[in-house]
Amino acid sequence: MTTTTTDSSLRQTPPERTYTPEQLALFAEIKNGRTFDKDEELPEFYRKHLINLLWMQGDSEYSGSLGYAPWIAKAPTMQEKVLVAQIVKDEMRHASVIYKILEGLGEDPLTHVNKSDLGFKHPQDDINIGFKRIKDDYRVNIFYYGINYWTDFILFNFLMDRAAGHQLEDTLESSYLPWKKGIEGIYKEEVMHLTHGDKWVKILAADPKEKPFLQERLNLWWPRVMNVFGSAKGSRNDLYVNLGLKKRTNAEVREAFVKEIHELCAEVGLVVPEYREEDQPTRD
Ligand SMILES: [Fe+2]
Ligand SMILES: [Fe+2]
Repeated sequence: MTTTTTDSSLRQTPPERTYTPEQLALFAEIKNGRTFDKDEELPEFYRKHLINLLWMQGDSEYSGSLGYAPWIAKAPTMQEKVLVAQIVKDEMRHASVIYKILEGLGEDPLTHVNKSDLGFKHPQDDINIGFKRIKDDYRVNIFYYGINYWTDFILFNFLMDRAAGHQLEDTLESSYLPWKKGIEGIYKEEVMHLTHGDKWVKILAADPKEKPFLQERLNLWWPRVMNVFGSAKGSRNDLYVNLGLKKRTNAEVREAFVKEIHELCAEVGLVVPEYREEDQPTRD
């Protein structure tokens, strides 16, 4: 038997989503502070969604590291090469932390990364794939795009590391304790990455030769990063909030992120393009 939630203190769920009484009891327990630790038996429903989020993060970190790696050689100064190498190392370490948690849950990340093409980047520079997926892996789909210019690298720090930072902030209070513990160091490093983006956005925006290209690339990357927050339709985020795996829905995190980007862009005279979810290509 299934039933819809009538507890208004739990997040509103889409009308088509129904939960069993056991699932509703689990939400209530988690809301009252229930957490889960390593080696503890997890309710199957919880386990399934936890693993799903961990795969998404692990593959994104791994693929992010590979996407950044060519910029060690291409960074403009020696000091910047060191910084990019640090960021590449951070992302690979983040992947290893998350994959280790997955291993603890009985998954096999090493076989997965060795058979997947996580280094793949779409060859077309100006494409927008919307909400589509390209390969058989779990990365957030912004990691399918190539980082083709130093300005792209900077915008990736400025936009995507910031978006990731906002999302990870929620995981600092995760109901799954190994994840919560792993995120503490990861979060600090993501803050370093986005600070690097902020510094360089100011440098590029202050240079009249660089600024038009920065604006042009911001126009290209903006829908790509906004799509990371997912479609408002069919979102699983209320469910993740109910499971204590996220604190805010993607729509709430996106609002905080957009506000910050608008403020930062206004400071340096950049225009944040308009974004309309309905214009984005959808999954087939
Ligand atoms: Fe990361
Ligand atoms: Fe990062």
